[in-house]
Amino acid sequence: MSPTSRTGSRRTGSRRSKRHVLITAGPTREYVDPVRYLSNESSGKMGFAIASAAVAQGDRVTLIAGPVRLETPPGVRRIDVSSAREMLRAVRSEFRDADALIMAAAVADWRPARKLAGKWRKKDQKTETASLELVKNPDILSLVARQKGDRLVVGFALETGDGVRRALRKLRRKNADYIILNDESVLGSERATVTILATDGSSVRLENKTKRAVAKALVALEKI
Ligand code: C5P
Repeated sequence: MSPTSRTGSRRTGSRRSKRHVLITAGPTREYVDPVRYLSNESSGKMGFAIASAAVAQGDRVTLIAGPVRLETPPGVRRIDVSSAREMLRAVRSEFRDADALIMAAAVADWRPARKLAGKWRKKDQKTETASLELVKNPDILSLVARQKGDRLVVGFALETGDGVRRALRKLRRKNADYIILNDESVLGSERATVTILATDGSSVRLENKTKRAVAKALVALEKI
């Protein structure tokens, strides 16, 4: 069944079924060897808050989480992943049956070209410097949003400098419906200042709100 016909029947059917929202959260881990990895400071709190807010408004929620120390919110179906490529596989598979995707995960842009089978030992390295070859990770949002049809796709951005202009470019490049521009202070914090940017060029700024309040605003977004 095509996404269009599924969404259509959901809206017009006599027994209105719940919207299925797919949310990603947290960082990804890109392993160098069995015990070392590249990752980032994302706590996952924003994505988990979005999942709670979506359940509270009556949505069916699937949460794809990178490695985080957070309890699964009640009513949420959770799928744990580690690397960006694992997250891509899970998002692709779950998006088939979803009406909306909110990509709050801080996906690592790069991964080591090779994962060593055993620990990378200092004594095996004769030189004072060593380098790690990195390859680009797939951009999950761009890849999935290409096939979104009439489904809602929301991405996040953390920018420095001229954030709004960069985030708007990202919105178009990634074929999202909205980009949520975060201030840098967001990482690990309980509060957030965000600007919601839409494809029609409109924007709404939410200043120093709890992540819960931001999450409530985000799950109310509709396709323009
Ligand atoms: O390009 P940038 O990392 O700033 O884009 C951020 C948005 O793109 C977030 O919504 C993030 O979840 C998503 N993203 C992704 N796959 C990547 C990198 C980012 O889906 N490899």
